[in-house]
Amino acid sequence: PRVLLLFGGRSGEHAISCATAGGVLRAIDRTRYDVVPVGITPQGRWVLVSDDPDCWSIVDGRLPEVEDGPQQVLLPQSAEDRELQVLEPGTLPAAIGAVDVVFPLLHGPFGEDGTVQGLLELVDLRYVGAGVLASAVGMDKHFMKLVLAGQGLPIAPYTVLRPGDFERNPDAWTQTVASLGLPVFVKPARAGSSLGITKVDDLADLPAALDEARRHDPKVVIEAGVVGREIECAVLGGVDGGRPRASQPGEIVVTDSRHGFYDFEAKYLDEGGVRLTCPADLSDAVSEAVRDVAVRTFEAVGCEGLARVDVFVTADGDVVVNEINTMPGFTPYSMYPRMWEASGLAYPDLIDDLLRLALA
Ligand code: DAL
Ligand code: MG
Repeated sequence: PRVLLLFGGRSGEHAISCATAGGVLRAIDRTRYDVVPVGITPQGRWVLVSDDPDCWSIVDGRLPEVEDGPQQVLLPQSAEDRELQVLEPGTLPAAIGAVDVVFPLLHGPFGEDGTVQGLLELVDLRYVGAGVLASAVGMDKHFMKLVLAGQGLPIAPYTVLRPGDFERNPDAWTQTVASLGLPVFVKPARAGSSLGITKVDDLADLPAALDEARRHDPKVVIEAGVVGREIECAVLGGVDGGRPRASQPGEIVVTDSRHGFYDFEAKYLDEGGVRLTCPADLSDAVSEAVRDVAVRTFEAVGCEGLARVDVFVTADGDVVVNEINTMPGFTPYSMYPRMWEASGLAYPDLIDDLLRLALA
């Protein structure tokens, strides 16, 4: 089959998407799949790019980027071309040619949020992962919480601030945030890789944290910090109508206290500052509870293909859902492929499973 790997894109996670593509390019079985690598520049232009995984790695803290350069520019050549090409059923821009399946390795808005999925639905192309609605719900931490709570899944207390809310009544909002208990995490509603997130230990720091989150999204979610271990679980869509499968859980321990939490730096730039353990050292009962919550979260959001569910496990063994990621990172530092490796599914076989699910 001919597989279009789509990566980069217009979100703040552009570089992480490139590194994810590097991971997939390194692992995909080229004897089975004919790979068409298409990068989307930060400005939104689609370009045919190198398929050399080394071009798409994070090296010495340098983040990769798709550029309009020597590569062939595919889209948009002109507004008219784009309209004509994109809406041709069964194909994407004519320069790409026909493909059997698209692997949208995009993180964040304009890729993981249902927008690209909608484009692919319009042109009747198969693609890996969640559809339009599940992608949109998974991207928006506010609606994600509504959907999870509405289906009885355990989440932490939170509040949502829309533009102008805080400024209209700072005292009342400060009270509301205080009632969540400190610390709180101030997050852009729609972002990923911890971009724009601040851990707030002192209410005096709240306005600055709001400003930081609003650089990414006018809507802000403030969550009560949960005291517990940070555990993740990978989920793969079920085959032949079967239920989704959950991996062995993994654990994240931030070992360098300069990172107040598992932030962008700790995730991608400071290999020494964080320890990823897989499988996590959990009792059988707690491990089973995490896997059960992960599958139920996947189903609650209506996911397909894959997702990574991030939870907290409290000292009492309670599982609290932090979030679901419908296109989790596949970089060499990422938990998703590592959790499957630890569960007996090698990276090339994982990619094969994902593509077969999309083609089924
Ligand atoms: N948003 C990043 C890529 C993740 O969830 O892994
Ligand atoms: Mg996320």
